[in-house]
Amino acid sequence: MEFVRSIWENDSDYMTLIEDLIENEELLKLDDITHHHYTTRLIHSIFVSYVSYRIAKRFKLNVRAVARAGLLHDFFHEGREEIVAMDKGSHNFVHPHIAVKNAETITELTELEKDIILKHMFLTTTGVGLPSYKESMIVTCVDKYCAINEVSTPIRMKVKEKVTEWSLRLRVVHA
Ligand SMILES: [Fe+2]
Ligand SMILES: [Fe+2]
Repeated sequence: MEFVRSIWENDSDYMTLIEDLIENEELLKLDDITHHHYTTRLIHSIFVSYVSYRIAKRFKLNVRAVARAGLLHDFFHEGREEIVAMDKGSHNFVHPHIAVKNAETITELTELEKDIILKHMFLTTTGVGLPSYKESMIVTCVDKYCAINEVSTPIRMKVKEKVTEWSLRLRVVHA
């Protein structure tokens, strides 16, 4: 999400962990894809990666795997319809597999990183096993938190706008 951009960009420990990935042209193309109605797939991926990284750091877990796999968890360029047309399963089941395949073209993934990416849609579709590591559990939870935050942002903005409008009207009535 945009509001954390200045935070993650200025976190040199975090940036060091992802520096070889964040300049990758194929990954940067995710910035052209709208994600969760409000953000781009790249910004969503960084949001998930960075929040997960901070949690993993607090609990002294594998911050490198969380930061990198978090960034790569939605590394796919296809739209929902294209994935459904592949006839390999639901969008939620298939896109983590595409993300692993794409990630392996730009970096070598550890078993932990693969588990994080493959299981990030845990509980949203059938066929996704239980996350095998604490790090995978963090990323799947953070992904859901970020998705809810992103999807609800336009609604929250609208409500805020309405409340401001009403409060301005009230001031006029009481003037
Ligand atoms: Fe995803
Ligand atoms: Fe995601």
